[in-house]
Amino acid sequence: MISTKSGQKIFVTGGAGYIGSHTCVELLNAGFDVTVYDNFCNSQPEALVRVQRIAGKSLQVVHGDLRNLTELTQALKNSGATAVIHFAGLKAVGESVEKPLLYYDNNVVGTVRLLEAMAQCKVKTLVFSSSATVYGAPQQLPIPESHPLSATNPYGKTKLVIEDMLRDLFQSDSSWHIGILRYFNPVGAHSSGQIGEDPQGTPNNLLPFVAQVAIGRREFVNVWGNDYNTPDGTGVRDYIHVVDLAIGHVKAVQMLGEQAQCVALNLGTGNGYSVMEMIKAFEAASAKPVAYRVGPRRTGDIASCYAQPDLALQLLGWRAERGLPAMCEDAWRWQQKNPMGYAAAGSVMEPH
Ligand code: UD1
Repeated sequence: MISTKSGQKIFVTGGAGYIGSHTCVELLNAGFDVTVYDNFCNSQPEALVRVQRIAGKSLQVVHGDLRNLTELTQALKNSGATAVIHFAGLKAVGESVEKPLLYYDNNVVGTVRLLEAMAQCKVKTLVFSSSATVYGAPQQLPIPESHPLSATNPYGKTKLVIEDMLRDLFQSDSSWHIGILRYFNPVGAHSSGQIGEDPQGTPNNLLPFVAQVAIGRREFVNVWGNDYNTPDGTGVRDYIHVVDLAIGHVKAVQMLGEQAQCVALNLGTGNGYSVMEMIKAFEAASAKPVAYRVGPRRTGDIASCYAQPDLALQLLGWRAERGLPAMCEDAWRWQQKNPMGYAAAGSVMEPH
């Protein structure tokens, strides 16, 4: 059993985001001190007010941009952190096709700056948010970490470039401790219903869209294709509860402290569910009908994608514990308590 040194400090970039905020709760619960560095370009300070309320502990917040090396280095130094969890980045596939430079600048340049700041502060432990998108069109299922890597859109390419950069960095200096976590499809919310996914505008991802139909914000779900080679013809994905994902980060940061390495790990459940199964599960969890219409396939989509999750179990002693009903019930609780996301929240924390 790996233990947490009491008060060990972690610097979390993008900590106000969907996965970041859930990870901050689990870090505080595990006894870590947390400094969040976020530019709030796609997140709300309110999420961090709620993180602290849930955990009953406070964290530090620095409002800053990764691309500002001076501010970033200062913030990292002031935090006294011994490890960094790096969530900050843009993640909308369609937008990345429209604005590739924005994605390369935010995601790739931002990560270069972060690594420079870490080297300067002699902080050499990093957990990086990657994605199953780096596997491209799967050649085998379930997908092991050894699967060939490729990317078809600028968002995916930024993840792949960063992964390659981290492997090159480790090659040049083997004193780094680097964990690359490849997420499958994060869904759900904290069981309190206080924090959750808050997409701006029309959701791109399936479950937030389904939740908005169930609550009456949208009329029906577009099912993007029912002629795939899957049991019911709709796309199959490995949906993973965001709290399981968050706990995976805590385990990764604990494990990485032990040994210099650069390792990539799948964080998924190993189970695939179709779009229709997700709609039915959400109807059961919410006791609301979810209308849908079958449309054409979405460009760039694949039929099926699910993880071989054994390496994370072996190295971290981690496996996803929360099943599909909990994913939908928790997403529904968040949606009901926050029908307009964080936007309607009264309290606003002043970042400093
Ligand atoms: C998407 C991104 C992926 C990214 C991930 C991050 C694409 C092509 N892929 O993954 O690169 O890492 O989000 O969150 O955007 N679906 C519908 N109707 C909808 C929305 C989705 O039928 O309104 C279907 C899709 O066709 C797919 C499944 O639901 O079969 C899941 O889609 P989504 O939630 O967007 O995730 P991915 O496409 O797997």
